[in-house]
Amino acid sequence: MAQKEQWGTRIGVILAVAGSAVGLGNFLRFPGQAAQNGGGAFMIPYFISLLLLGIPLCWAEWTMGRFAGTRGFHSAPGIFIVLCRNTFARYFGTLALLVPLVIYMYYVVIEAWCLSYAISYLDGSLMPAANPGAYDEYFGSLVGIGQDGALFRPGHRDFLGILIFTFVMNFFFIYRGITKGIEAFCRVAMPIMVVLALVVLVRVLTLGTPDPAAPDRNVVNGLGSMWNPNFAKLSDPNTWLAASGQIFFSLSVGFGVIINYSSYMRKNDDVALSGLTATSMNEFFEVCLGGLITLPAAFIFLGAAAQEMGTFGLGFTALPSVFAVMPAGQLFGFLWFIMLFIAAITSSLSMLQPVIAFFEEGLGLKRHAAAAILGLIAAIGSGFVVYFSKDLKALDTMDFWVGTMCIFVLAMFQAAVYSIAFSVQSGHAALHEGSHIRVPIALQYLLKFVTPVYLLLIFVAFCIFNVPDYFSAIGKSEVALASIMFISIVGAFLLVMVHIAGIRWMREGKLNFLFEEAGEDEQAANDSPAV
Ligand code: ALA
Repeated sequence: MAQKEQWGTRIGVILAVAGSAVGLGNFLRFPGQAAQNGGGAFMIPYFISLLLLGIPLCWAEWTMGRFAGTRGFHSAPGIFIVLCRNTFARYFGTLALLVPLVIYMYYVVIEAWCLSYAISYLDGSLMPAANPGAYDEYFGSLVGIGQDGALFRPGHRDFLGILIFTFVMNFFFIYRGITKGIEAFCRVAMPIMVVLALVVLVRVLTLGTPDPAAPDRNVVNGLGSMWNPNFAKLSDPNTWLAASGQIFFSLSVGFGVIINYSSYMRKNDDVALSGLTATSMNEFFEVCLGGLITLPAAFIFLGAAAQEMGTFGLGFTALPSVFAVMPAGQLFGFLWFIMLFIAAITSSLSMLQPVIAFFEEGLGLKRHAAAAILGLIAAIGSGFVVYFSKDLKALDTMDFWVGTMCIFVLAMFQAAVYSIAFSVQSGHAALHEGSHIRVPIALQYLLKFVTPVYLLLIFVAFCIFNVPDYFSAIGKSEVALASIMFISIVGAFLLVMVHIAGIRWMREGKLNFLFEEAGEDEQAANDSPAV
């Protein structure tokens, strides 16, 4: 039996959840999505998704996690059994293990890119300025974009070393556990991130008009490039899909993470205010820091072309071009990429914890055995991503099917489980146990009726507009097909483990509460007078 773990402090759990949320999604994905989907106008579907999906589902996850955690389960399969009072529900929990694990496999690779850039700024190898094309080349060579297997050829040992270091660092903190590992790291990392991001923000906002020959490229127009609304984009369904996808990815909702983290809370710990605080912190990092730094800085130095750059283009090609010509650019380049690296680690830790918790409580493994097995699976997955590097096909395929599609599906499962587990009144009561704020009961109606319908609409639209392209990509690309097969094998493995866990829990008597409750109901029915 796994040792009972709990968060040490209230601020610790808030920082851990916020740390999970704040990551590459805030600083790279958000500006890229906003720029390509209507700039300021993107914020309309973005905030609608935040209010109708993000905040309600966050609260639902916090409530469900704490409810099941105080009844002895911390992994999604067990949590779903407790909430649905049905052993079959555990199979749906498999998705809440698959999603964080597969996202980890490619996320840790991007994390290692960030560390590699930070080191290159530190030793000066990324400076002084070359032409912007040089940064394209640098990035392409670092990630092996030209050819599968490129990173395993001579000349790439440095990056593989950095990747292994990043990987081991994640497992070091995960191995130390909830309080001494995740909480301790996030308590230090989050304040450092705020300071670093603010330093870079002040630098960007005080750039003025660095090139007198191009007076249009100034701070005000840079902010305009990010925030000026293009309302025409609102009639494009893809804008709405991008907004809800961004909310899920950014808040780590539908990742199986919050439900796991909140299961380590005590019965009377506040979840209402803590959940809202963690969400607000994420929005501050995303809109106020990510939204004011990345694209405006790129615009000031590169002009309108910056708007067309995707997530990786902005982060790994445009920004280095900016640092190259900015006074003290080497220092700011280092600060920026080390900040991204720290932000990414607080997120990737949260992707490992749900699976390690399952290995411990579901399979009865000791922490070192659980960490070793998880490490092996994750290493194979990351190795797969790094090997099939041509055009980042494996990474892109995993990001689409798991990092976007499965998140929608898991979010729908979780909304359904919440509806099965709680009525309007009991959900309201569960959210407010130990709560420091009052949330209007309208939230419960929203969670029961509006959120699932909105989620379903978004999902159907997503299947109609995006899935066909990716389906045809599977037919055209062997790597895309291999990636899908790899994900399926990992999913099948987890499904078998979940099945075994259910049998173990049954044998150990951990599920007796189901039959006791059923027995009590039967007894009550027999005792009640016949009508
Ligand atoms: N929520 C994490 C991010 O935004 C995964 O990067």
